Amino acid sequence: MSMFKKLASYIFPFSKKIHSNINGVLEVNWVNGKKVLDSPNANYSFGNLQKVLHFGLEKVYDSTVENILILGMGGGSVIQTLRNEFKYTGNITAVEIDPILIQIAHNEFGVVASPTLEIVLNDAVIYLQQNKQRFDLVIVDLFIDTEVPGGVMQKEFWLDLRNSMSENASVIFNYMNPQGTPSNFKIMLQYLDFEMQEYTYVLDTNSIMILRA
Ligand SMILES: C[S@@+](CC[C@H](N)C(=O)[O-])C[C@H]1O[C@@H](n2cnc3c(N)ncnc32)[C@H](O)[C@@H]1O
Repeated sequence: MSMFKKLASYIFPFSKKIHSNINGVLEVNWVNGKKVLDSPNANYSFGNLQKVLHFGLEKVYDSTVENILILGMGGGSVIQTLRNEFKYTGNITAVEIDPILIQIAHNEFGVVASPTLEIVLNDAVIYLQQNKQRFDLVIVDLFIDTEVPGGVMQKEFWLDLRNSMSENASVIFNYMNPQGTPSNFKIMLQYLDFEMQEYTYVLDTNSIMILRA
């Protein structure tokens, strides 16, 4: 963003609308000198969402992590957090179902594939079914606007996810309900032998679950 636009955004917030068949009308907004990505009813990237995931990373990130899987790349703000704030230089695989989001991440936020960043256009549910790699940290940040897709709440998704985790791996699951995840979902995770800790009212809007297998 140019310095002029950055300064002007303190007085006149700028907005650009981008239509996606999957996510609806997305908005790139410049507010108080910062560019963020919003869906119709939620912040998608580089705003509160980025702070919520930062909270999750503070709970689990350590220097032994070498391979990270991000399910739901969006605009890629957690990639920026990992690289700039946690100084993570290892491999990241980012899975995203919406090609428009991959374009936005590139064009608006400079997120591009590299030898240490693989961007995969796929449904996360299918990706996990087919995946053979193991990851030390998995970030599950899957939303269509404010809703977590139905498949993500199913037993099969978490069984496949467990098969993608290395021995001491952790999972950060972001859920947009301040009061936490449904009790039947927690029972299902317990049944699958996940250890879990839930943090509710993270920035008043979200809950974060930390899981270990
Ligand atoms: C809140 S955004 C992710 C923000 C991102 N993690 C960040 O750090 O900026 C949620 C993303 O999940 C994606 N998504 C929703 N369902 C998906 C699915 N089944 N497979 C892969 N991506 C999906 C959406 O297209 C959207 O880009």
